[in-house]
Amino acid sequence: MSKKVALVTGAAAGIGRAIALRLARDGIAIGVLDLKKEACAPVVDEIRAAGGKAVALAGDIASRASVQAAADELRAAFGPINIVVNNAGITGFVPFMELTDAQWDRMMEVNLKGAFIVTQIVLPDMLAQGWGRIVNISSSSAQSGAATMAHYSAAKGGIIALTKTLAQEFGPHGITANNIPPRFVMNTVMSEESFKHLGQDVRDTWTNNGPIRRQGEPKDIAGACAWLASDEAGYVTGQTIGVNGGRYI
Ligand SMILES: NC(=O)c1ccc[n+]([C@@H]2O[C@H](COP(=O)([O-])OP(=O)(O)OC[C@H]3O[C@@H](n4cnc5c(N)ncnc54)[C@H](O)[C@@H]3O)[C@@H](O)[C@H]2O)c1
Repeated sequence: MSKKVALVTGAAAGIGRAIALRLARDGIAIGVLDLKKEACAPVVDEIRAAGGKAVALAGDIASRASVQAAADELRAAFGPINIVVNNAGITGFVPFMELTDAQWDRMMEVNLKGAFIVTQIVLPDMLAQGWGRIVNISSSSAQSGAATMAHYSAAKGGIIALTKTLAQEFGPHGITANNIPPRFVMNTVMSEESFKHLGQDVRDTWTNNGPIRRQGEPKDIAGACAWLASDEAGYVTGQTIGVNGGRYI
């Protein structure tokens, strides 16, 4: 394998942005994928300003054609893809009895099928190289359950199961698959949206009641992701690596 090239989805903001910046620091060329190319540009600029390599990619992970086009653009820029971080996702809070078919389907389409589509599109590159790293961002809601998030937690539970299956199927080809389930990670669009729903007092509770008495930050997830994407983590696969301040043990 001559060089490392990563596709990071949902990388214009929040956790995905932090992951893109952190992987770039390790010399990995980054495809910064998000719904709109303009939104990716500041992240690409930041990576380039620090001496790294990155390209902005427009893509909707729920659309095979758009992910295919984005992956081709990344390959044209830097060569075959050998790291994928399935991070893009949406959230939602709906009492179970009020959940509609449309809300359920949309959640599955983005938060579960999206990872299927993206992974299937990049895997041939990894197989050809005999080396690959798949890191999926799941959620602690899949481990603990989360009231009013049946569709979200079910999709994220699917991500954990998908990760284990990918680990089994592609381990013999030098490809690892692991997932990181965050708890609350502050300063992202998603967590701010969640606090609007759950109430701002929950933020203080979450900061003060776990064993590690501080807020989770995107860079906490990014650090674990960088390790899972590295050569050093080559004997780690199928695992769920909790980065949550001990809030789910
Ligand atoms: N923030 C948390 O507390 C938390 C907790 C548990 C799990 N997570 C998971 O971490 C991941 C990142 O969360 P975040 O807090 O950074 O969210 P965020 O909303 O801040 O960022 C998500 C990014 O994904 C992009 N995106 C959404 N749908 C997309 C699609 N169809 N195609 C391409 N890009 C799309 C958005 O445009 C956005 O830039 C998500 O999968 C989320 O479920 C977050």
